[in-house]
Amino acid sequence: MCLTYAMLHERGSSPAMYVCVCRAVTENEVHDCIAGGAKSARQVRDITGAGGDCASCVRKICAILKRSEDLLPTA
Ligand code: FES
Repeated sequence: MCLTYAMLHERGSSPAMYVCVCRAVTENEVHDCIAGGAKSARQVRDITGAGGDCASCVRKICAILKRSEDLLPTA
């Protein structure tokens, strides 16, 4: 698990926001997946199933991945 990402990622108490409607995968589940080490939309799909049907959510998953990279310190 990437503790740095988990510590930097703030989880709100708002209701679940679905990233993938087809597979009913929430944004928090994608964040958990990234905290667990997923580095690509394919890895997120393999773990959660998100993006495995119509794939219209893949751009959102990529945006979440990009934001997670931006949160992590470099070097
Ligand atoms: S919305 Fe994610 S596969 Fe369709």
